Amino acid sequence: MNGQIATLLEEKPKTANHPPKPTMQANVFHGVDDIRIEEVLRPSPGPGEAVIRVTLTTICGTDLHILRGEYPVRPGLIIGHEPVGVIAELGAGVTGYEVGERVLVGAITPCGQCGACLSGHHSQCGHGGGYEAIGGWRFGNTIHGAQAEYLLVPNAQANMAKVPDELSDEQVVLLADIASTGFSGAESGQVRIGDSVVVFAQGPIGLCATVGARLMGATLVIGVDGDDTRLAMSKRLGADVVLDHRKVDVVDEVKRLTGGGVDVAIEALGTQQTFESALRSLRPGGTLSSLGVYSGKLQMPYEAFAAGLGDHRIVTTLCPGGKERMRRLLEVVRHGRVDLTPLLTHTFPLARIREAYDLFGARRDGVLKVAIRP
Ligand SMILES: NC(=O)c1ccc[n+]([C@@H]2O[C@H](COP(=O)([O-])OP(=O)(O)OC[C@H]3O[C@@H](n4cnc5c(N)ncnc54)[C@H](O)[C@@H]3O)[C@@H](O)[C@H]2O)c1
Ligand SMILES: [Zn+2]
Ligand SMILES: [Zn+2]
Repeated sequence: MNGQIATLLEEKPKTANHPPKPTMQANVFHGVDDIRIEEVLRPSPGPGEAVIRVTLTTICGTDLHILRGEYPVRPGLIIGHEPVGVIAELGAGVTGYEVGERVLVGAITPCGQCGACLSGHHSQCGHGGGYEAIGGWRFGNTIHGAQAEYLLVPNAQANMAKVPDELSDEQVVLLADIASTGFSGAESGQVRIGDSVVVFAQGPIGLCATVGARLMGATLVIGVDGDDTRLAMSKRLGADVVLDHRKVDVVDEVKRLTGGGVDVAIEALGTQQTFESALRSLRPGGTLSSLGVYSGKLQMPYEAFAAGLGDHRIVTTLCPGGKERMRRLLEVVRHGRVDLTPLLTHTFPLARIREAYDLFGARRDGVLKVAIRP
């Protein structure tokens, strides 16, 4: 993979005999707080790969972790993992697609052929081998990502979902990551019709978990946050009740509203406090479905855990990807079950992505997600 990056970033050939290779603009990570828009070589597809011209992408909270040095990736990497675009080139062996077709590619790009994929654990894809923890997340992590004019799609046959003509890029771009992740919080929690669900944190992921809980049939959905804009959006997207953790004891309030505890608590922040509150909010036999990314040690208070005898389930999920997942999510939008466009609060051209990172990182101006147009 290092070789591929070196090739992509090498100087443009200057010899008169060879026509210059095509280049593109891309957002390249160089180090902590150092990203730059640069001209780099445009990728070309090998067997089983495709190249798409990115028409819309966005910035994820995880990209902020990368920029701040909290999640290390190597310098020279193009970051970003949420692409919608048009097929520009198809490598050998990719069938059933035409150049010019519009496709959505998930943030997670499983190979479809390894032990993990064939066992149904696509996000832990081992790329032709067994399992690799978080191995399905490649864009902007271990291979070049989507904040660029063009993107090389690995295992293209398994990862390009055709976008129905009637849907705009804006309607579908958030399906690649935050919607797939947020919905999976409710799916992994096995929310059932009539369930009560509390979602801790109403950032982009938590808001999508709130939407997912509704889709799965929950009849009482409680959104928890401490930011007025996000609490308002939580209501708008379908929460029945919102709780401000600055103003109320959330666990007491959840127990009061549900007569003893929720069926499913979804954690969408990644802190000890929210993990613990999610556990304390459960009824006996309830499920804690965790989406947050944690650091350091996570402690389990024994009384909330009923000393290990409470029949609780604790499940974790990495964003599901692959073209079948994307097809299903596209259908959810196409049939009007969900509209995620209110979450796209700002738009920037790729050339001004640094401004977009600053706005998104500072959570200024009511920002939820920014659309980036290469
Ligand atoms: N599982 C996955 O595949 C996956 C994918 C992407 C992101 N993530 C993780 O999901 C988490 C959420 O991502 P995001 O982009 O929505 O985050 P975000 O930072 O945009 O939002 C976090 C929200 O938490 C709220 N908050 C802070 N303290 C709180 C508290 N004590 N109680 C309730 N709410 C509180 C903030 O007001 C904010 O609205 C992160 O840990 C992220 O790394 C997981
Ligand atoms: Zn992401
Ligand atoms: Zn695989």
